Amino acid sequence: MGRDYIIVGAGRCGLGLAGVMRRAAIPLAGIVSRSPSSRRRARRLFPGLPVYSLRPPLPDAWCYLIAVADDALAAVASALTPRLPPMAGRVAVHTSGFHPASALEPLRQTGAAVASLHPLFPFPPPSADPPTLEGAVAAIEGDPAAVRVSFSLARQLGMRPRRLAAADKPLYHAAAAVAGNLTHILLALAREMLLRTGFSRSQANTALATLVGGSCHQALLARGLERLSGPLARADMRTVEAHLAALPEDLAAVYRAIARAALPHLVSRPGFPGMAASIGAGALTASSSYASVTLMPYGEGR
Ligand SMILES: NC(=O)c1ccc[n+]([C@@H]2O[C@H](COP(=O)([O-])OP(=O)(O)OC[C@H]3O[C@@H](n4cnc5c(N)ncnc54)[C@H](OP(=O)(O)O)[C@@H]3O)[C@@H](O)[C@H]2O)c1
Repeated sequence: MGRDYIIVGAGRCGLGLAGVMRRAAIPLAGIVSRSPSSRRRARRLFPGLPVYSLRPPLPDAWCYLIAVADDALAAVASALTPRLPPMAGRVAVHTSGFHPASALEPLRQTGAAVASLHPLFPFPPPSADPPTLEGAVAAIEGDPAAVRVSFSLARQLGMRPRRLAAADKPLYHAAAAVAGNLTHILLALAREMLLRTGFSRSQANTALATLVGGSCHQALLARGLERLSGPLARADMRTVEAHLAALPEDLAAVYRAIARAALPHLVSRPGFPGMAASIGAGALTASSSYASVTLMPYGEGR
């Protein structure tokens, strides 16, 4: 048996990995995908690479890399099991950041070693120009043989593999969503606001790139919120109130919620009581549930 891979799932992650694997000269024997439209897209992006539907017979491979929607993973594992060759000596790895390797239990039952390998990386919409995964963390857990294969694959793709306990995956993946997906949404909303003040799209993008680049830099240098700037950190209560008044109600609610999460860590600031009242968090104290996520308070360690 060769050491070739089959990717199951032709979305962002599946096709992104296919592109990166091909560039790294990792043997890829084909892509399996459910819908005719995603199979057409896979054929267009990877001319010459076999593309299969989920119907049998499915191709034989050493490692099946399953990159389907989280909610479909268990059903896909069950559907694949009777359609694949005997799995003893083979490996099945899924890419979900949330589900543990045991989501592939039906494949394990037929002899496969199973793991999860989550690239901590936002795959762009599939294109002929694959992303680079250089330096991205790959969070891995599962059966020892499949973990070894996953570590090796991650390294070949330029990622930094690390073990993650299965029980920690929900919190790990929530952190990834907060840092990656929610900031993406907040940026899109902020850009809309700038457009309304007369910025062109490209001016807004340039302005936000500098601002957010600087903010990320400071946040990652800090141990907590001690390098936070802006009206919340300064306890400029009237400015915060004016922001809340300028925002549509649903966005003001998001602003309040994030500010409330920060407040326990700003509690030592002189303007804290007024600030807490401004954002509707009068009863909030350092013992709030938000404080269970430990951050260094503003002002310390600067
Ligand atoms: N996107 C990222 O940046 C990223 C990063 C790391 C890990 N991941 C992980 O990769 C996995 C896929 O995410 P994605 O972003 O690639 O999602 P996506 O672009 O939405 O693609 C999802 C794929 O799942 C397939 N699928 C959905 N339901 C199915 C079902 N019932 N049966 C068979 N196939 C089904 C879809 O098939 P059709 O094309 O036929 O609809 C599609 O190919 C997730 O576990 C995700 O956590 C994603």
